[in-house]
Amino acid sequence: MGHEVNQRIVGATPAGAPDRESAAAAVREMFTSIAPRYDLLNHVLSFNIDRLWWRRSARTFDAILKRPAARVLDLCCGTGDMAFALRRRAGSEAWQILGADFSHAMLLRAAAKAAEKTPDKGRSARLGWIEADALRLPFPDGHFDLVTSAFGFRNLADYDAGLREIARVLAPGGECGILDFGEPRGLIGQCYRVYFKKVLPAVGTMISGVRGPYAYLPASVERFPAPDEMLGRMRQAGFREASWTPYTFGIAGLYRGVKSV
Ligand SMILES: C[S@@+](CC[C@H](N)C(=O)[O-])C[C@H]1O[C@@H](n2cnc3c(N)ncnc32)[C@H](O)[C@@H]1O
Repeated sequence: MGHEVNQRIVGATPAGAPDRESAAAAVREMFTSIAPRYDLLNHVLSFNIDRLWWRRSARTFDAILKRPAARVLDLCCGTGDMAFALRRRAGSEAWQILGADFSHAMLLRAAAKAAEKTPDKGRSARLGWIEADALRLPFPDGHFDLVTSAFGFRNLADYDAGLREIARVLAPGGECGILDFGEPRGLIGQCYRVYFKKVLPAVGTMISGVRGPYAYLPASVERFPAPDEMLGRMRQAGFREASWTPYTFGIAGLYRGVKSV
């Protein structure tokens, strides 16, 4: 694609946070503040399409998930829905699916939801939760066969550092899948932007009772690199076969890459 990759640090900057550390702290506080209502808001504001996106992304990685002893990490797992979708696709031999997030409140909800679900005993992969920062993962090099992240990667304070960290913990030939929002074009894009920038922040603020996070959401999507640029950054971080598949007119999309051997 020959797209030039901008070399300056690019990442989330909630409310103009001046550096990486304060950006990360602001993101963590923001998600912690909306954790109690996060699922309800997700489903209402996306008209439940989020469920289809998680399932479709998980299905993409069937070949890895059905492998005996596959090691899977879902980064920025929040309340766990992407991890649950991965487990549904995983073979019984999958060793373990780990969800990692730096918001304790989000992880507590993920664990509570996991306890409510009753997977076929002994016939489905085990789930585990770990409190960790995506930019400093507590795992050795080459540990995982698959790393996913749904609607979380966009919130990292440094996207290149995030991609390098994902590449580090992946085994050579391992895959990464980053599901996140995009900006649809054309007439659909125009209508969607009205919804995303006006209706969604208003409804989100009303239901969550917290001002801020739902204004940050459209702003963070606007700042996120366009697909060509993101693919360039993935290649630079050591991923080959980098690709982007738009979902629902490009409202969301899945970035995929294979860690170079
Ligand atoms: C929009 S939520 C997505 C949650 C879930 N993956 C989903 O699809 O619903 C983003 C999550 O990313 C987490 N997050 C953001 N930056 C992070 C970081 N640097 N390290 C770990 N988790 C992070 C937040 O705490 C939050 O739970």
